[in-house]
Amino acid sequence: MTVRVVAPGRVNLIGEHTDYTGGLVMPMAIDRYTEITGSLGGDRVRLASRDEVEPLDLPLRVDDPATAEPAWARYVAGVVAELQPATGFEGSVGTTIPIGAGLSSSHALQVAVALALGYRGSTLELAQLTQRAENRSSGVPTGIMDQLAIAGGVHGHALMIDCGTLTIEPVQVPEGLEVVVYFIAHRTLVGSEYTTRVQECAAAERLIGPLRDATEADARSIGDTVLRKRALHVVSENLRVRSFAAAFRSGDLVEAGRLMSEGHESLRSLYDTSTPAMDDAVGRLQSTPGVFGARMTGGGFGGCVVALAAPGALTDGWIVHAVGGARVDTSEGAQE
Ligand code: GLA
Repeated sequence: MTVRVVAPGRVNLIGEHTDYTGGLVMPMAIDRYTEITGSLGGDRVRLASRDEVEPLDLPLRVDDPATAEPAWARYVAGVVAELQPATGFEGSVGTTIPIGAGLSSSHALQVAVALALGYRGSTLELAQLTQRAENRSSGVPTGIMDQLAIAGGVHGHALMIDCGTLTIEPVQVPEGLEVVVYFIAHRTLVGSEYTTRVQECAAAERLIGPLRDATEADARSIGDTVLRKRALHVVSENLRVRSFAAAFRSGDLVEAGRLMSEGHESLRSLYDTSTPAMDDAVGRLQSTPGVFGARMTGGGFGGCVVALAAPGALTDGWIVHAVGGARVDTSEGAQE
């Protein structure tokens, strides 16, 4: 029996570097996909890739996913290690999500692998399983935003996710709006300052308590300059997500764009996750007629920027649309 699984990438509209302190985020699953086809059986996980030279071949028991070879097998090995499947899988994978561009190609692969191996938990359970898998594969303590966006995407909607209560509220993407993504630079969060940011937030929380409940005055009370800046970003970003969702609901695109641009400035000057190339691209977009706002998106240190624009205002980026979450199609005739 052929199994076909499709998992989308994601772009985050606002709410950056807030998920790992239980804050608010607002990503959407996008119409770029990773697809796995194949069949369950045997006692190995074997996948050929249309995008990688070497195929992978893994046993059903993996102790240390971070050492699997070739390198892309680490993401798959993380899922195998968490899932400990009883049966193997043989098939192929391909993707239209640019790899290593900050649009969650690795998370889409992991969600797709979990479904291909037969995992059938809830959206939340699938996201939590693949978050644990990702943390083991990469050694980076990333949050749960990307997995929830990929597993729980809703057609035509962005998702306001409360990463503390793990609740998802779909918010319709207003009419008369294009979401446009620009690739700036390849990046990996492995070896980046991502882990340092997670640690800095934990240090700030030891001083003023959970950042999700903190006020701007609490953040300003922190004596250490760096920790104060980090806390100020997170506290203000959580507020921006709520305001952005309200602006989307009322169709106030000017306000939504303004909040995105403000968010970028906060990531640049308080959180230090942007780069000069990202700042240049964001500045160029912000001064383009018909653009409501622009910001870096994802973990930062490279990756992509995202803009909200009137239809036709931007013609040189990737126009993306909000789509439904990962899905599995198990049928005799599931091949393309
Ligand atoms: C990466 C991580 C997410 C999130 C973002 C920053 O995409 O995987 O969990 O922390 O960075 O918002």
